[in-house]
Amino acid sequence: MNTAFGSSKPINWVKRRYRPIVDPAGVPVAVTQICPMQGSGSKAQLILFDDGRKYVVKFKGNTQGPRVLPNELIASRLAVLLGVPVGEFEVVRVPQVFIDFEPDMARRPFVGGLQFGSLFYEKAVASPTQTRLEKLNNPSLLGSIVVFDHLINNWDRSCHGDNVLFIEDTPPRLLLIDHGHAFMGPEWTVEELRRNALPVKPLFGNFYRIMAPLMIGDVFSESLERVESLQREHLESIMVDIPLEWGIYEEEQSALIDFILARKGQVRATINELSRKRFPKTCADYIESYVI
Ligand SMILES: Nc1ncnc2c1ncn2[C@@H]1O[C@H](COP(=O)(O)OP(=O)(O)OP(=O)(O)O)[C@@H](O)[C@H]1O
Ligand SMILES: [Mg+2]
Repeated sequence: MNTAFGSSKPINWVKRRYRPIVDPAGVPVAVTQICPMQGSGSKAQLILFDDGRKYVVKFKGNTQGPRVLPNELIASRLAVLLGVPVGEFEVVRVPQVFIDFEPDMARRPFVGGLQFGSLFYEKAVASPTQTRLEKLNNPSLLGSIVVFDHLINNWDRSCHGDNVLFIEDTPPRLLLIDHGHAFMGPEWTVEELRRNALPVKPLFGNFYRIMAPLMIGDVFSESLERVESLQREHLESIMVDIPLEWGIYEEEQSALIDFILARKGQVRATINELSRKRFPKTCADYIESYVI
């Protein structure tokens, strides 16, 4: 029999339980791990938090790269600013002791602290078919996604439909997720942002190919105008209170702002060129010749 310090009293080897602390700033704190997300390159985890909501969490220390978390937060805030529909998101707290406690996470190089949480949409379908997208009956919404992705240099959605969520509500909704590869990717440096802001290269992959036939008429104008009206102050306002532990200091912030401001001036030309070749139903010339 195990005894403590030779005494005859048996040791009670009860597994220590993780107890979430209450965050003084009101940041949601992890309570229970539910499961890893299938097919997530960054090994995102579905976790229940003490605000009673479930979030898909991306972690500091994920193997995709250190910029995944700031990319997610900044792109999501920018989407809100531009009126592009994005899933609800929060900075959340997952302490190291929580990570160490769950084998699924403990074997990853995740680092405890503040993480990026995307509200979990239980009924959502990723990779929606054309039939589903058609139900949205909103060609301009699809246009706004193309404009937004060009602004933030997000090639990942143009080819992968699983970076949007389709929700079969009344009316149905489409929400953007996964901006880990935006800007210059999950490992960008200030130098890379400065060197590669321009040109705004045209994006076109499998997911855009599905959207293209539904994009009829003038689907880009409104979102292009919104993008072109972006000012430095707007971008500064979305950079405030990024967790310091994510390594986005003044230099990184100003490089990102310059990157976005440089691109906003060239998005229209790229979209115009792209729409002639790839989104023919959005092209005025095509519509006129078709009608005649
Ligand atoms: N908030 C959410 N609600 C419901 N499902 C989600 C949510 N976030 C992500 N998912 C699902 O999990 C999958 C992986 O998420 P996400 O694409 O953000 O991860 P990732 O690690 O960036 O993956 P990758 O880089 O390989 O695309 C999504 O394709 C989607 O199916
Ligand atoms: Mg993805």
